[in-house]
Amino acid sequence: MVDNKNNRETFSSGLAVFFATLGSAVGLGNIWKFPYMVGENGGGAFVLTYFICVLLVGIPVAVSEFYIGRSTRKNAVGAFDVLKAKPFWKSIGYMGVLSALFIMFFYSSVAGWVFSYVFKAIKGDFLSLASLSMEEAAVNVSSQFDIAVGGSVSPFVWQITAVAIVSIIILAGVKKGIERITKTLLPLLFILIIICCIRALTLEGARQGLSFLFRPDFSKLSASAVLSALGLAFFKLSLGMGTMITYGSYFTEKDNLFATSARVALSDSIVSLLAGTAIFPVVFTFGMEPGAGPGLLFKTIPLVFSKIPFGNLLLIAFFILTSIAATTAMLSLVEVPVAFFIEEKGMSRNKAVILTSALILIIGLLTVHPKSVFGNVVIAGKGFFDLFDYLSSNIMLPIGGLLISIFVGYVTNKDHLSKELSNNGTLNNKGMIKFFINVLRYLTPALLVIVFLNSIGIINF
Ligand code: TRP
Repeated sequence: MVDNKNNRETFSSGLAVFFATLGSAVGLGNIWKFPYMVGENGGGAFVLTYFICVLLVGIPVAVSEFYIGRSTRKNAVGAFDVLKAKPFWKSIGYMGVLSALFIMFFYSSVAGWVFSYVFKAIKGDFLSLASLSMEEAAVNVSSQFDIAVGGSVSPFVWQITAVAIVSIIILAGVKKGIERITKTLLPLLFILIIICCIRALTLEGARQGLSFLFRPDFSKLSASAVLSALGLAFFKLSLGMGTMITYGSYFTEKDNLFATSARVALSDSIVSLLAGTAIFPVVFTFGMEPGAGPGLLFKTIPLVFSKIPFGNLLLIAFFILTSIAATTAMLSLVEVPVAFFIEEKGMSRNKAVILTSALILIIGLLTVHPKSVFGNVVIAGKGFFDLFDYLSSNIMLPIGGLLISIFVGYVTNKDHLSKELSNNGTLNNKGMIKFFINVLRYLTPALLVIVFLNSIGIINF
């Protein structure tokens, strides 16, 4: 379908919009990052804080990004020209291009781990778990993970594979590439995670796992955990850097921006909670550490499937579908610098894709891997992996979100905004728009600033 504003491609229907946006939101963030951060930050209280952040910050910023994108049909830099904003606001777009690259440095590495687990499961590396005792099985999966990510060749090969696959899909163009994949495979992933949950709930430690995930204990919540929950909300919903501006630019005139944001946030949250429900019972059954860090997913999921019929087949399917979720999320990340290079720097699509993947690999390969040349370099107490994660999720995305909420709340033309949010007056949602503008003006930026200052210790609660 071709949009009438400037012949730009759009998604073909409301449902396609929903799935494509969900394809960006659902990814390693739900299946890998959410559970391990919940584990590191003490469980239920972190989960609750996360949901408050989604509601009061995530959804308003998502609507704002959709507004900027759809009303201009541009990328995150060009959009601000169309809105006749001062050049300063373009820094949201520039910073977004940078954040997308920062995230890809470590995201592509984790995607490589997931790809390698597909291969490991097919080879039968986890078949022996069935005959081991619990303690032995737990030790076995942990050491398999350490070997898988610690090698000096294979993790690099898998990371390159991940980036190459993403580049090839991106080269095929927006609609064909993204729409087809997300529509068919996300529902399958959803079903498989539910199977994981059912199995996990039959384990001995199910109660303890669920209570860890759902029962808030605020004594375990630190200021830095609150910032992490906020950062995770941005990361999960792909906000604060223009991905959703770019996606919004492909929406049709008929999509309801509020409903789309709410539906995406809800579905995304359900997937995250299901992933937690699949993982924490295993943690408590096998006597593992909830705060095991980035390896948590890889050390638990093989155990979920270890003693059930067709377990290995399900395990293979799980990692295949997770690779696909990771891939669709990466598509949305890589699309940000690619659209920028094409539309602002006048590059061809091929050139833009090659340049972007080269940048990701050069820095991603050299810096992210623990065994890489810079594996032991520590900056501000963090290795490169954590540093890129921290800078992007906890600093750049929230700052991007703050600027976006200020721009849409205070700077942009209110009539233009209301017109866009009501689809040119065809939706009867005046009250909703008013409420939204108030939240965006007062609540969202205030929360962002308070959490930010609190976590870096300038103010103290
Ligand atoms: N939301 C994705 C996930 O959960 C990651 C992601 C894709 C992202 N695009 C983004 C994060 C843009 C921040 C910004 O895995």
